[in-house]
Amino acid sequence: MAGTQVGSTTPRAPINRSRMARLRWSFILFLVLGLLAISSEIYIFEGLRQTWFFSLKPISVMRGLVLLSVATSVLGQTPADSFYPPTLYDTSYINNSLIGTYGGIYEAPTNGPTGGNPYGAYDYCSMPHPRSEEYQLPEALTNGSIKGKLVYLEYLQRHQRRTPYNILPGGENQAYHCDNVRPYLYAGPNSASGIQPMPMYAQTYQDPTNPFTPGVNGTCQYPQITIGGVEDGYQHGKDLWSVYGEKLGLIPKEPNNRVWFRSSESALTQASAGTVLRGMWPHHKGALPLHQMVSSVNTVNAGYSCPAVDSILTSIKSTTQWREHLAVTEGLRSKLGAMLGATDNSWQSTFDHFSDNFQGRLCNGYKLPCSLSNSSACVTMQMAEEVFRAGDWEWNYYWRSNPEVVKYIQVVEGLFIGEIISRLQAVLDGKSSLDYSHIFIHDGDIGPILGSLGIEVLRWPGMASNVAFEVWETGDKKHGKSFYARVLYSGHPVRTIHGLLDWVPLSKLIDIMSPYVPEDITSLCG
Ligand SMILES: *[C@@H]1O[C@H](CO)[C@@H](O)[C@H](O)[C@H]1NC(C)=O
Ligand SMILES: *[C@@H]1O[C@H](CO)[C@@H](O)[C@H](O)[C@H]1NC(C)=O
Ligand SMILES: *[C@@H]1O[C@H](CO)[C@@H](O)[C@H](O)[C@H]1NC(C)=O
Ligand SMILES: *[C@@H]1O[C@H](CO)[C@@H](O)[C@H](O)[C@H]1NC(C)=O
Repeated sequence: MAGTQVGSTTPRAPINRSRMARLRWSFILFLVLGLLAISSEIYIFEGLRQTWFFSLKPISVMRGLVLLSVATSVLGQTPADSFYPPTLYDTSYINNSLIGTYGGIYEAPTNGPTGGNPYGAYDYCSMPHPRSEEYQLPEALTNGSIKGKLVYLEYLQRHQRRTPYNILPGGENQAYHCDNVRPYLYAGPNSASGIQPMPMYAQTYQDPTNPFTPGVNGTCQYPQITIGGVEDGYQHGKDLWSVYGEKLGLIPKEPNNRVWFRSSESALTQASAGTVLRGMWPHHKGALPLHQMVSSVNTVNAGYSCPAVDSILTSIKSTTQWREHLAVTEGLRSKLGAMLGATDNSWQSTFDHFSDNFQGRLCNGYKLPCSLSNSSACVTMQMAEEVFRAGDWEWNYYWRSNPEVVKYIQVVEGLFIGEIISRLQAVLDGKSSLDYSHIFIHDGDIGPILGSLGIEVLRWPGMASNVAFEVWETGDKKHGKSFYARVLYSGHPVRTIHGLLDWVPLSKLIDIMSPYVPEDITSLCG
C-alpha cells in the first residue's frame, strides 16, 4: 500500500554518515590504547563517560584501568539513554562542558528528512518517531503470554523544524532562505461545486525603500516551517503508516470517520499536518478538516487567558535553584549578550531565546551566528552546547522539579490532559467513536504532558517530538476484555517515576494523569 510515494524522494540522509564509522574506529583505537596503558599515561576522549560517540579531542590524562571500566559503561548505553541524563536535576549539569550534548544531536542539513545517528537518540532537529525498522511490540505480547490487538492511538506531536522565533537584537550575520518552501493559505466554500480558489502561497521579500530593517536578510518569516521540516514531516507520516497502518492495521487506507485531526491555530502546526498526512496517505484526493479551537479559549498553545500561569512562573523563578542556574551561566550570558547585542531581560533571564536562535541555525544547515560588528567574534559549538544544557535544565525544572509543578501543569495544560483522558476513558468504556487521533502542537504542550506522566528526566522536547498513547485490547471469552496502555515518547516506551510505561492497565494510566486535571480551572486561574 505505502509502496509508491509522491513528493520528495530524498533518501533518508543521516547528517553525518562518518560519525558511525568514526565511532567504530575510535572504539578500536580506544581498546588498543587501553591495553597499552597498563601503567603509562594516555589520553581519553572528551565526553566519553556520558556519550557513546567520541569527539577526538584529547582533554586529560587517565590510567588504563579507568579506561577499561569506562568502556564497559559506554557499551551499556543505548540511543534512548540520551533522553535521560541522570544529573539534569543539578545545575552542575549546565556548566560541565565534559557532558557536551549528552549524546544529543543538534545539526541537520537544509534539505531532507534526518534519520538521526544512531536512530533513536535525542535529536533536537528531528526527534525520532515510531518506524517499522525499530518498532517492537510490547513485551507482554512478544513473550507469548498474551494475545492482543491495538484498538486506539492518541498521537501528539510538535511541528517539524523551522526558522527561529527570535532574531538577534544586534542583527544576524547570515540570511535565511525560504524560497524553497511554499506556505499556502487560501479559502474556499465548503462545496466541491462552489468557487475553487487559486492556491496562494506567501512569498516573503524585502523592499529596499522600507525604512525599517528586520535585522535579518532573506526570504523567510520568523518562525516558518523550512524545506527540511516539510521533507521530514513527509517521512514522519510514511513511517507512522508503516507501523500503525501496514503492520498493525489501525490506521485505515483512506481517512474515514474514525480518524480525527487537530492543530493549534499556528501556521507551523498546520503546515506540519499537511506534510505528515501526505506521507501517510500519498494518494488521497481532496482536503481534510484540521480541528482548531477558537484561539482565545484554546486548550493548547497557551490559548485561554490564565493569570495564575504568570504568577506561578514568577514564584518558581524566585527559588534558590532557579537563581543558581543563572549564577553558573553568568559568564556565558554576558559573553553572548555583548557579542550579539542581546543584553535585555528577554534574552538574559532564561535560555529560551539563545537556544531558539541557535537551534534555528543549526537545524537548517546554517552556521552558529557571529557578531555583526566583529566578524571574528562567533558563537562556538562549546558555547551553544552550554546554552542547550541550560535549556534542558530549564525544561526539566518547569515540568518536573519546580516546587509548584503539579499546579503549574494544571493551569498550563490540565484541560488538554483532561481531553486526552476522556478519549482514553471512552475506549475503556467501549464508547469511543475514534480509532486514531493525531494532534499537532508545540514544545510548550509536549513538556507538561510528559511532566504529567512523570517522565524521569525531561530534556527540551525537540522538533517533531511525539507522544504515542497506544491502547491494546486483550482477553478471551473466559476472562473478558482488558485494556492495556503503552506510551511511547519519540518512539521509545517512556521511562517514568511510575516505571516504564510499556504495558500498564489503561485505568492505571488514567490514574497517573488525572491529578493534573484541574477541578475548577476558572478559580485556579484567578
Ligand atoms: C560550575 O559553576 C559552579 C558555580 O559557579 C562552580 O563551583 C563549578 O566549579 C563550575 N563547574 C565547572 C565544571 O566549571
Ligand atoms: C511476559 O511479559 C509480561 C509483561 O511484561 C510479564 O508480566 C510476564 O511475566 C512475561 N511472561 C514471561 C513468560 O516472561
Ligand atoms: C542585508 O543585506 C544588505 C545588502 O546586501 C546589507 O547591506 C545589510 O548589511 C544586510 N543586513 C544584515 C542585517 O545582514
Ligand atoms: C573581535 O573578536 C575577536 C574574537 O573574539 C577578538 O579577539 C577581537 O579583539 C575583537 N576585535 C575588536 C575590535 O573588538
